[in-house]
Amino acid sequence: MLHEKRILLGITGSIAAYKSALLARELQRRGASVRVVMTKAAVDFITPLTLATLTNHRVYSDFTESEERGTWTNHVDLGLWADAFLIAPATAQTLSNLVHGASDSFLLAVHLSSRCPVVVAPAMDLDMFAHPATQQNLATLSKRGVGIIEPESGPLASGLEGKGRMAEPGHIANWMETWFAASAPMNGKKVLITAGPTQEPIDAVRFIGNRSSGKMGYAMANAFIRLGAEVTIISGPVQLSAPKGVHELVKVQTAQEMYDAALLRFESMDIAVAVAAVADARPVKPHSVKLHKAELPKSIELEPTLDILGSWGQLKKTSQIVVGFALETDQGTASAQSKLASKNADFMVLNSTSVSGAGFDTDTNQVTIFEKDGNSHKFDLKSKAEVADDIVRTILNTNN
Ligand code: CTP
Repeated sequence: MLHEKRILLGITGSIAAYKSALLARELQRRGASVRVVMTKAAVDFITPLTLATLTNHRVYSDFTESEERGTWTNHVDLGLWADAFLIAPATAQTLSNLVHGASDSFLLAVHLSSRCPVVVAPAMDLDMFAHPATQQNLATLSKRGVGIIEPESGPLASGLEGKGRMAEPGHIANWMETWFAASAPMNGKKVLITAGPTQEPIDAVRFIGNRSSGKMGYAMANAFIRLGAEVTIISGPVQLSAPKGVHELVKVQTAQEMYDAALLRFESMDIAVAVAAVADARPVKPHSVKLHKAELPKSIELEPTLDILGSWGQLKKTSQIVVGFALETDQGTASAQSKLASKNADFMVLNSTSVSGAGFDTDTNQVTIFEKDGNSHKFDLKSKAEVADDIVRTILNTNN
């Protein structure tokens, strides 16, 4: 399936552009998010309104949104958003432009600035396709790592018959699925994530807890799943549904339950990420029944809980990567660095509640990632999904 995949669909000026509407639907049906960028020639074959309605998002075809307002459309952002740039149909002219790095259309500028892999589904007349110039262009693109979805043979718009018809939408979607599965950088990697708060019982109905929502941990799970990892989440009580494609979701309540579940699974993992806000202490003697008001103690004796991240740090093999989160109420750099060392983690992600919009129970976060070799990376305030992508990318880049 293509769930959580972001596909930028490029449409160029071929009669096969009419199939792009079906392709957009098919990609979405399989779970992908689709954004569309069209050349001006493509607009003659299919209206942007059709694609905008199907994808529930505006269609991009020019550098400015409206000439009167002079608003610039950011082709760089669009390129960075995508997991893959699929150009279907790709005309002979477009293939040539891609080879030469032309940028005189919005689609071509997106191509030059995108960091994601590019895939083309050529569509043209049989002689244009068979021409050595086109074949050489395809060979050059293929050598650069561009995926080529071969056209099919059959009746062509010209009335001739031969190879040149764009592959059918179902076939292109299948091709993308196989290609994502094979090229996902975290394919075969097992990732363990602790998420959410823990609740430490005082009596049968009361507990010591915290304000963690689990959003950051679940966003981390989604980011790893998108890159092909097999993800297990050990989650405290949260109001979130299981991320699509999660391998195992273990629901726990207390720090001890989280510790047991996390330690049991750690050995077989490649990456373990401690996002959970685990209670540092729990009542020594929780009552098994509800205490009435008059029975409530004046003070509650606490004992420390076990440190999951610290235990992973002690147990980890050289092949394993351990990541921690440090939530601080001040700037927190010194504290994050000292937790990185004391817990023997490979990365420590600092988020500070002193930054407005960061920390517990928000949809955004602002983090700095500290690496054990002393490097650090500071990121802007972003959605937790984007923050998760930044963290996962940092882990990937450091270990490649
Ligand atoms: N952590 C954990 N198990 C615990 C406590 C914390 O795995 N029992 C993990 C958290 O998931 C987080 C990291 O340790 O990744 C840092 O948590 P934090 O509470 O900031 O650090 P502490 O070690 O508890 O230090 P302090 O409370 O003194 O700041």
